[in-house]
Amino acid sequence: MQLSDKKVTLSFSDGSEPVELPVYSGSIGPDVIDIRKLYGSTGMFTYDPGFLATASCESSITYIDGDKGELLYRGYPIEQLAQKCNFLQVCYLLLNGDLPDAKQKEEFESLITRHTMVNEQMQTFLSGFRPDAHPMAVLTGLVGALSAFYHDSTDINNPEHRHISAVRLIAKMPTLVAMAYKYSLGQPTIYPLNSLSYTGNFLRMMFATPTEEYEVNNVVERALDRIFILHADHEQNASTSTVRLCGSSGTNPFAAIAAGVGCLWGPAHGGANEAALQMLENLQANGGIENIGKFIAQVKDKTSGVRLMGFGHRVYKNYDPRAKLMQETCKEVLEALGLEDDPLFKLAMELERIALEDEYFVERRLYPNVDFYSGIVQRAIGIPTTLFTAIFALARTVGWIAQWDEMLSDSNHKIGRPRQLYTGSPARNVP
Ligand code: CMC
Repeated sequence: MQLSDKKVTLSFSDGSEPVELPVYSGSIGPDVIDIRKLYGSTGMFTYDPGFLATASCESSITYIDGDKGELLYRGYPIEQLAQKCNFLQVCYLLLNGDLPDAKQKEEFESLITRHTMVNEQMQTFLSGFRPDAHPMAVLTGLVGALSAFYHDSTDINNPEHRHISAVRLIAKMPTLVAMAYKYSLGQPTIYPLNSLSYTGNFLRMMFATPTEEYEVNNVVERALDRIFILHADHEQNASTSTVRLCGSSGTNPFAAIAAGVGCLWGPAHGGANEAALQMLENLQANGGIENIGKFIAQVKDKTSGVRLMGFGHRVYKNYDPRAKLMQETCKEVLEALGLEDDPLFKLAMELERIALEDEYFVERRLYPNVDFYSGIVQRAIGIPTTLFTAIFALARTVGWIAQWDEMLSDSNHKIGRPRQLYTGSPARNVP
C-alpha cells in the first residue's frame, strides 16, 4: 500500500486536540484511513459492527467493485477466468499470483493429483458420525482431524510447510466431501483415480459405485468446474475473515480451515444456496409461478421473517457477476441433461424478473447473487441439497488457504483482537 498525499483530520466538539490520520491508497478501490494510532492518541476505539466500513487487512488476491458488479482474481475478471481456465489453473493463480504456463500447469495438476488420497484411518473417524449427520458437521470434523495426520508440515513460519498444507487441503477436500456423501448413503468410499481431472475425479468419487463403470459427463464436469471457479475466493467475506482471525493466533492450517467451514455453514453465507433451492421447492409445491405475487408480498413484509434467498449481497449492489455466469451454466447443464423444461429453473427466472422490477428490490439494490442459480445446477447434476454448502467449502478452500498464506507471509501480521463498546454493569461487589 502507498501513503497518500491526503490526510484526514479528526476534530472533537469538546475542544480536545485534533488528530491527523494518514491515508493509504491501494492499486484500485477506496483509500483507507489508518486508525492504528487512534486509541493511543485519543483513548477512543472506532465502532463498526459487522465491519461494514473496515478494511481488516491489506491483500493482493481478490478485488470486488460492488457497485459495478466486478470481481477480479489477481486482476483477471471472473468472466474471463470462467471461460478460459479450469479450476486448478485458478487455484494456481490465487496461490501464486500469476496464471501458470503450460509446464507449471502440468506440474501443479500432477502435484494436486498425487495428494488426493487421505489416510485410511480417516474412515474410522468418519464412522464415528451418525449416517444422518449434516455433511457440514462431518466436513468440519474431518478437516479439523487432518491436523492430527500431518505433523510434518504444521510449522506455519516455514513457507514450504505452508505450501504443502495448501496442496494437501486443495487435493483432499474433494475426497473428504465425497467420503461424507458416500457414508450418508451407506455406500463404500470410492478412492481417487489419478487419470481423471480434479473435477472429473470428484464426480466419480461422488457418483460411481464399485459395481459399475462410471463415465464422466463432460458438460457436467465443466459446469461443476465453473461452480468451483466462481466460489474460489471472495475477498474478506465472513468465512475468509474467520480463517484469517483463527490463523492469526498461529494455529495450524487445518484448524483454521475447519473454522472457515464452520462459518460458511450459516444460511446468510454458504448455506444460502441450500436455502435458495429449498425456497424454490417450497414455492413450487405451493402454487409455483401462480403464487409468486403472494410470495413476494411475504418477502417484503418485514414481520414475516421471509427473505428472498439468493438475492442481496453485503458488497454487490449490482448484479453479482457470478450469478450471470451461473445462469448461463444452468441453461447449458439443463439442456445437456434434457431438463430444459425444469420447472424450478422457470420459476427462478420468473422470480428474478419480477423482483428486478419491484420497487422494494430496486430501491435496496437487491440483485441475484451466485446462490440463486447454483442450487438448480447442482440439483440437476445429482448433488443432494444438504451437500451444497460442502461443495462451496471445497471450492473456497483455495481462497481461504491463499489468504491465510498471504497473512502469514507478512512479517507485520498480528493476532486479530477487536475491542468493544462495553454497555454492561460497572464494577460492583458480590453481596
Ligand atoms: N430478501 C428481502 N429483503 C432483503 C434481502 C432479501 N434477500 N436482502 C436484504 N434485504 C433487505 C433488508 O431487509 C434490508 O431492508 P431495510 O433497509 O428495509 O431494513 C435491506 O435489504 C438491507 O439488508 P441488510 O440485511 O442490511 O443487508 P446486508 O448487506 O447486511 O445483508 C445478505 C446481505 C446477503 C445477508 C442479505 O442480502 C440476505 O440475507 N440475503 C439472502 C441470503 C443470501 O442469499 N446470502 C448469500 C450471499 S452470497 C454468497 C456468499 O458470498 O456467501
